[in-house]
Amino acid sequence: MGQIYAVGVGPGDPELLTRKAERVLRNADVILAPVSNPAEASVALETIREFIDETRQEIIIHQFPMTSDRTRLIPAWQEAAALIAGHALAGRRIAFITIGDPLFYSTFIYLLRILHEQWPQLPIEIIPGISSINASAAQAGIPLVESEEKMAVIPATAGIEQIALALSQFETVILLKVKPLFAQILELLCRQGLEAGTVFVERVGSSRQKIMTDFTQISAHSPDYLSLLIIKRPVLLN
Ligand SMILES: C[S@@+](CC[C@H](N)C(=O)[O-])C[C@H]1O[C@@H](n2cnc3c(N)ncnc32)[C@H](O)[C@@H]1O
Repeated sequence: MGQIYAVGVGPGDPELLTRKAERVLRNADVILAPVSNPAEASVALETIREFIDETRQEIIIHQFPMTSDRTRLIPAWQEAAALIAGHALAGRRIAFITIGDPLFYSTFIYLLRILHEQWPQLPIEIIPGISSINASAAQAGIPLVESEEKMAVIPATAGIEQIALALSQFETVILLKVKPLFAQILELLCRQGLEAGTVFVERVGSSRQKIMTDFTQISAHSPDYLSLLIIKRPVLLN
């Protein structure tokens, strides 16, 4: 029997891979990298290039549709889970790589459910990774939460009402997947007077990293998919 690994490779900087992730990836027989657009390189795969040997290891690029339509997603998850299970049943060590952490808004979560349900005998080890949130806070030099503060993480696709609610209840709000609602989010932040507490981070950990704290500059930018906002309510000093 082989072994299945889910490896979090961090946000895109190879130096932010854990030693355990590096060891597992060097020893894997097969590495499966997810992509949503086959015309674009897999960020996860680019992050681990220096740790793998394509002459010895099989690299599979697997496409997952970028949609919320579950009638298209479920067959894609089933197909990927069957592919992973097939390699493990054949005695291979297969590593599914994912940006950030595998249990934090990752496709791997859906695969894990299917694998547990359909192939409960297969061993699965999950190697945590540094999430885009931790890497962004570190690069921007902003504390995420301190003392009794609370933090909410919201995929902006949840909608503007959910974002407004979180902003009213949490000292720090992290918005992921901001691209589709960017203009509406910025409008809301303006209405709530949160311009000075807003930080925009794109492609953290890569050569294309952008960090913006100036709201006018943020508003003029057109974000790509790998971007997030950290919004902090002003800290009262007394
Ligand atoms: C499906 S979630 C993946 C989260 C990932 N598993 C993690 O642990 O960071 C995708 C969202 O995470 C954020 N993200 C992921 N990588 C990023 C990066 N390198 N820079 C900025 N944001 C990133 C973006 O908001 C993106 O839309």
